Amino acid sequence: MSNRSAVLTQPRPAKGTHHRAEPARTRTRKASAAAPGRWQFFNAFLREPLKVGAFWPSSPALAEKIVNGCDLPSRKLVVELGPGTGAFTSLILDRMNKRSRFFAVELNQMNVQQLRRRFPSLQVYADSAERLPKHLDHHDGQKADCIISGLAWGNMMPAMQNRIFDAVLDSLAPGGLFTTFAYVHAQVLPTSLRFRKRLFDHFSKIEITPIVWRNLPPAFVYRCWHH
Ligand SMILES: C[S@@+](CC[C@H](N)C(=O)[O-])C[C@H]1O[C@@H](n2cnc3c(N)ncnc32)[C@H](O)[C@@H]1O
Repeated sequence: MSNRSAVLTQPRPAKGTHHRAEPARTRTRKASAAAPGRWQFFNAFLREPLKVGAFWPSSPALAEKIVNGCDLPSRKLVVELGPGTGAFTSLILDRMNKRSRFFAVELNQMNVQQLRRRFPSLQVYADSAERLPKHLDHHDGQKADCIISGLAWGNMMPAMQNRIFDAVLDSLAPGGLFTTFAYVHAQVLPTSLRFRKRLFDHFSKIEITPIVWRNLPPAFVYRCWHH
């Protein structure tokens, strides 16, 4: 993968669906925000390694890369899938418009408990991301204009991957952004290739960021728009 971000378009994106440039600098103060919950995350991994999908939470560098692409101040309804112990969550809360809505869907009970401890006012559904449309019903059936995924798509069985991906497509507002990350080493797995194909089949514009080396393991980010 090259060091430059690649923007891959299918048909031209509709007006208003262009992403905004990332701020040039990342903020180091946020680096500490991802630190809480590391050991709880590791514990959750030991109990459910396949579901949790990583042994360590994402780094502040990856959190910045994900969140910088989301244009959060302009979003009305933001959803995070698979937040783990909150590596992205604190940054999302920090950057989003305080009048907008935000909730998370996390399957692992230990991670849910940790999230609720860390972010007492955050609405966390202890459920599978497959049922995202049902949870949006509690928000007036409004669709999300930004879905941030921390799920390990490459670890999923195809049927589960399909169900969650369909739930995302069902839940995303026209012009909305879907963003997720992928581990570099897992790119050759059939499930990762399958996921990538589904992204290209369904989104009209996809940006792939440079690799974030300061993450264990290194990863890159997909930013996907549809209209
Ligand atoms: C690779 S970890 C990433 C956690 C966090 N986003 C991060 O980057 O540190 C994936 C997370 O997704 C959760 N998860 C796995 N399958 C899920 C599902 N079907 N629905 C919701 N969360 C799920 C796991 O429990 C875990 O917390």
